[in-house]
Amino acid sequence: MLLRHHFSSYLDTVRREGRYRIFTDLERDPARPPYATWRDGSNCREVVVWCSNDYLGMGRHPLVIDAMAKAARHMGAGAGGTRNISGNSHAVVSLEAGLADLHRKEAALAFSSGYVANEAALGTIGRLLPNCLILSDEKNHASMIAGIRASGADKKIFRHNDLDHLEALLRQEGPRRPKLIAFESVYSMDGDVAPIGRICDLAAQFGALTYLDEVHAVGLYGLRGAGIAERDGVMERVDVIEGTLAKGFGVAGGYIAADAVICDAIRSAAPSFIFTTAMPPPVAAAAMKSVALVKESIGLRMAHGLRVEKTREVLQAAGIPMMSSQSHIIPVLIGDPNLCRDASALLLEKYALYIQPINYPTVPRGTERLRITPTPFHSDHLIDNLANALYEVWDTLDLPFEETAHAPDFRPPSFVASAAQDFH
Ligand SMILES: Cc1ncc(COP(=O)(O)O)c(C=O)c1O
Repeated sequence: MLLRHHFSSYLDTVRREGRYRIFTDLERDPARPPYATWRDGSNCREVVVWCSNDYLGMGRHPLVIDAMAKAARHMGAGAGGTRNISGNSHAVVSLEAGLADLHRKEAALAFSSGYVANEAALGTIGRLLPNCLILSDEKNHASMIAGIRASGADKKIFRHNDLDHLEALLRQEGPRRPKLIAFESVYSMDGDVAPIGRICDLAAQFGALTYLDEVHAVGLYGLRGAGIAERDGVMERVDVIEGTLAKGFGVAGGYIAADAVICDAIRSAAPSFIFTTAMPPPVAAAAMKSVALVKESIGLRMAHGLRVEKTREVLQAAGIPMMSSQSHIIPVLIGDPNLCRDASALLLEKYALYIQPINYPTVPRGTERLRITPTPFHSDHLIDNLANALYEVWDTLDLPFEETAHAPDFRPPSFVASAAQDFH
């Protein structure tokens, strides 16, 4: 093939830097979360998944699966076209009403993914507001950065969660200039949380709009699972809330919830909304079911929180060096791409535990890590098992322990497979 060497030399560089990505071939078992079948060539092996963003396991909920299957039978598998050309599917209309209600906003707009939602919404808001300045947290997700770039608006980056820096940047601008503060609630790689209320205070003081990505918080926090803004009692102060249907809600798709006029403007102007096929009705129906269930499931949110707490406690006792995190995300620092890949491979091959290594560019070089995300389905038994395996891996690879380290009782790898029977 012509020019092939450019592609292979790029891949050589990625391999040399230890960050070549290998995607594990898995089949998640909806009847037995968090178990999955790992297909390694012609071999199949049962593994325990510790890194899923289906945080509550809603993707395997029987009623969500039922809603998807029924909608497919009733309305077909696909959307049949863009919304401009083929109309709105009723399933999407209902979903948007449910999302507007979740966030107590006038309207919501669904997109094919959370990435597209950020790209479309930020890209359009920044473009439609004349002379807009976007103030963006330095740790914002790639999709937000893509949207800000696409908008063509001026941008200023404020230091992560640094209110003094944000205020200083706001002060440099005249009061009449349209401004938008774009930030996340839960930062997905470090697990830290934004001071949403105080950012809203600054926005009110300096006349800025607020745009909050709650992708890693929807379903998990707040009385009805609307996210950290709901938990903190400031949801009505945020102008645009962006979320995903793929993580806490376990399905696929993204959305914004905001004033009707903002949603209508984005619907009317965003190329990545207008020129792409709409969300398939079975996906919308499954997401709608999941949102409805999660709204009512305080118990599920509590169970999730307790499992996270328990995992932290047990890993801490085993001396596993967790980064500080204020959320359900437990990042374990390794700090080297090759060691991170080796730790992940050992966990999978020897202990049948799947935790994907997180390397550059997802995180800065030198901060490579394992990112552990317990679900309500990770029993005490599985948590002990994880601690034992991590302890052994740290020992094998000579990785530094926290000072509290003491060896947990080690159980042989065969224990992992039998845990499936114990759990069910
Ligand atoms: C903060 C943040 N925003 C947006 C997205 C994109 O969401 P989706 O996976 O639905 O495209 C992600 C994906 O992980 C994310 O971490």
